[in-house]
Amino acid sequence: MHISKRVQSIKPSSTLAIDAKAKALKQQGIAVINFGAGEPDFDTPKNIKDAAIDAINSGFTKYCPVAGTLEIKNAIINKLKRDNNLTYVPEEIIVSCGAKHSLYNIFQATIDDGDEVIIPAPYWVSYPDMVVLAGGKPVIIKTSDKTNFKITPENVEKVITSKTKAIIINSPSNPTGCTYSARELKTIAQICGKNNIFIISDEIYEKLVYDNFKFTSIAETTPETKDITIVVNGVSKAYAMTGWRIGYAVGPKNIISAMSKIQSQSTSNATSISIKAAVEALNGTQEYVESMKKEFKKRRDYIVERLNEINDISCAKPEGAFYVFPNISALLGKTFNGKTINTDIEFADYLLDVAKIAVVPGSAFGAEGYIRLSYATSIENIREGIDRLEATLKS
Ligand SMILES: Cc1ncc(COP(=O)(O)O)c(C=O)c1O
Repeated sequence: MHISKRVQSIKPSSTLAIDAKAKALKQQGIAVINFGAGEPDFDTPKNIKDAAIDAINSGFTKYCPVAGTLEIKNAIINKLKRDNNLTYVPEEIIVSCGAKHSLYNIFQATIDDGDEVIIPAPYWVSYPDMVVLAGGKPVIIKTSDKTNFKITPENVEKVITSKTKAIIINSPSNPTGCTYSARELKTIAQICGKNNIFIISDEIYEKLVYDNFKFTSIAETTPETKDITIVVNGVSKAYAMTGWRIGYAVGPKNIISAMSKIQSQSTSNATSISIKAAVEALNGTQEYVESMKKEFKKRRDYIVERLNEINDISCAKPEGAFYVFPNISALLGKTFNGKTINTDIEFADYLLDVAKIAVVPGSAFGAEGYIRLSYATSIENIREGIDRLEATLKS
């Protein structure tokens, strides 16, 4: 049977593939340390699970409105007011099956063939492929650890053409954990406003920021910016709810309405039971987020310190998310156990084969010469994993 050209033009998610490979090795009884995970290793809080159980027991198990119930839209409205000082109405909100689904719908709703979307690299693996699936052209702006992986307004101005339609901002970032200040966001937003480019702001790691870093949504930097921004967020990372699949997008009514049209002809509503759980996550106690954050910060400090003690590895300390993105370029071209490692992909393969540690090569995120390690795993696992890494590099 024929596979469409559209699908042939994209690749499967490399982060999900590495996570699956590590899990499969574990199942075979091999003691793999998995630094590939893109999800908190904590359980979903009990109050949230209870809300889902109540939903099942009370029969809230049927179709509901495509873009989400009024109850969850109100919970999102309150969250955006409370945390981001942003005001929205229900017609400006859509709830989807995860933030990933919201992002997919945005590109399908806004991108025509040949439209260009600016994506700063390192980028989350799915952005370029989602743009390609919609017929668009990803325009990558490369950055490095020298600039804390941040783009500047000048970088943006340089790549703008008559076909530029949108830019993606992801702060805190997956894979680097880097964050943008309110001032930096405002200057980027001004360039977008001037050039008629709309902004897709992926804020899924908003709650996971450390060292008193104050998160700012680009949409709150000026009222004009709010008008040209679609904010994407969800409950996956902040409330350890990756499997529940609830995310949302907020933005101009015409775009949200177009996204709802797509959703009405594809998935319909996100799962009704998960919607009830997400209402509790957004409206209920936020204590759990704080304790999870404390643990993540401890792990981040430890992993960054250990990595920087290793010769030829340098690791910036990120302010957000649960990833570190060390520079390993000084190791490339060297020989370990008789094997010369020339690329970050070969390096990641070697670490999995020899040291039994799973990391994601930077190339998967458009950044050669780096690897991504997720510290969403216990401090004992981190210690063991870095011990193994150190020992392997000495061989
Ligand atoms: C930057 C970024 N955006 C979006 C998502 C998708 O989140 P969700 O689980 O809500 O689909 C992820 C998940 O890994 C992510 O890292």
